[in-house]
Amino acid sequence: MVTLLENPLRVGLQHDRMPEPQILVIFGASGDLTQRKLVPALYQMMLEHKLPPELTIVGVARRDWSHEYFREQMRIGVEEFGGGLGREEVWSRFAKGLFYCSGNIDKPESYQKLKAFLGELDEQRGTRGNRVFYLSVAPRFFGEATQQLGSAGMLRDPRKQRLVIEKPFGRDLGSAQVLNRIVRQVCAEEQIYRIDHYLGKETVQNLLVFRFANAIFEPLWNRQFVDHVQITVAEKVGLEGRAGYYESSGALRDMVQNHLMQLFCLTAMEPPNGLDADSIRSEKVKVVQATHLADLENLDRSAIRGQYTAGWMNGKQVPGYREEEGADPNTTTPTYAALKLNIDNWRWKGVPFYLRTGKRMPKKVTEIAIQFKEVPYMMFQSAAKQMNQNVLALRIQPNEGISMRFEVKTPGNSLRTRSVDMDFRYDTAFGKPNTDAYSRLLIDCMLGDQTLFTRGDEVEASWRVLTSLLEVWDAPAPAEVIPLYEAGTWEPVEAELLLNRDGRRWRRL
Ligand code: BG6
Repeated sequence: MVTLLENPLRVGLQHDRMPEPQILVIFGASGDLTQRKLVPALYQMMLEHKLPPELTIVGVARRDWSHEYFREQMRIGVEEFGGGLGREEVWSRFAKGLFYCSGNIDKPESYQKLKAFLGELDEQRGTRGNRVFYLSVAPRFFGEATQQLGSAGMLRDPRKQRLVIEKPFGRDLGSAQVLNRIVRQVCAEEQIYRIDHYLGKETVQNLLVFRFANAIFEPLWNRQFVDHVQITVAEKVGLEGRAGYYESSGALRDMVQNHLMQLFCLTAMEPPNGLDADSIRSEKVKVVQATHLADLENLDRSAIRGQYTAGWMNGKQVPGYREEEGADPNTTTPTYAALKLNIDNWRWKGVPFYLRTGKRMPKKVTEIAIQFKEVPYMMFQSAAKQMNQNVLALRIQPNEGISMRFEVKTPGNSLRTRSVDMDFRYDTAFGKPNTDAYSRLLIDCMLGDQTLFTRGDEVEASWRVLTSLLEVWDAPAPAEVIPLYEAGTWEPVEAELLLNRDGRRWRRL
């Protein structure tokens, strides 16, 4: 058997190498992401000896913090949101590499000050001009910060300088194209890391292995055997004090264009030629380019939005979206979206992909369910009223695993059938999977591996799929236009109809 390992050019996604000493500059370092996710992830990797001791982190934000104060904030982050400090001497070594540099995102002098400071740190810490600039700021500043970094000459060397841009990349196709143009003016595509943390999840990466390392599933993975696919990303959380961001974003921009589209691509794409970044990313682009909303003439048959009203979660009363702090009382921002997508290619023609995501759902669950066609003729009686189809469910989180549903004979004299599940669980097979997506992505970026980052054409292709919907959903409309669902319940009835009309129904998870 030939394996890709024989061809080093075709191998991304796997490395035990240690990144070179470098400086990670985080813009927006006083925000939640830095304290809750980025620094705890970096510290955990330091504890596991996956990062070089010279690793240096420079936080940049407007507030007038000292290095000491920044270190203190990061220590709190590691203790409260990470895995804890572990050995005190590791923390004290790590903390010595933490610095803070106040600055304004739109002021050229801030970038000059930063550049000089990074130069001093190179001398002090041996970081040799290697830089990762991480934009963890409000999306409207992505373009400005990139241009300023470019003008200050901080992105000139493609081998040593990289730029990480958080999501959402643009607000629609037009703005994503503009942003792509801006970043390409100052750096090469190989320097740009558009981050989507779903790609860093272990179980998401496993999709590739599951599909392409097993001979038995691939022959079934097509229109001859698959009836339809359901992709669900349900969350229990509500707005979490993020009205400023979420009000202008909503479920389509916050979750669908990025996280759900990534899950969709990995499920629907063709086998790549290799595991290198471009082979995988090109296949993803190809499948998105063949994808469209099911009925473009009649969008209500392709997509349903929803918004949560007050309800109960875990025995506690929670406010509706319109009552959340900072939300407009008449807002039509969707907190739920369900879409029916069709793919015009040989593999999938006629197989709908239903995607849904919502906040304040009864459960946190991310799952991809492949529903197979029914048997051509059923000769047995089912114990259930309705015959159940075979379902292959890939559980991304929580209870990470894979299950296969099939029919068996119930014990007894009559020939009746019942559905049962054959189940693989990550935790029983391997222990709890490392679900910290940021660790994986940060290390890949430092190593210069772009496989798990979104390429410019991919991001544009996925905005293109959603364009007509965004135009309608963004248009000013009376508050009544949006279907409602109570917090702590599943989708609005309108979203049920999206599937019922096709003789199908959402899985109850
Ligand atoms: C983020 C969204 O990208 O993903 C949040 O902005 C959402 O609104 C979060 O809650 C979900 O991520 P996870 O990893 O908890 O599924």
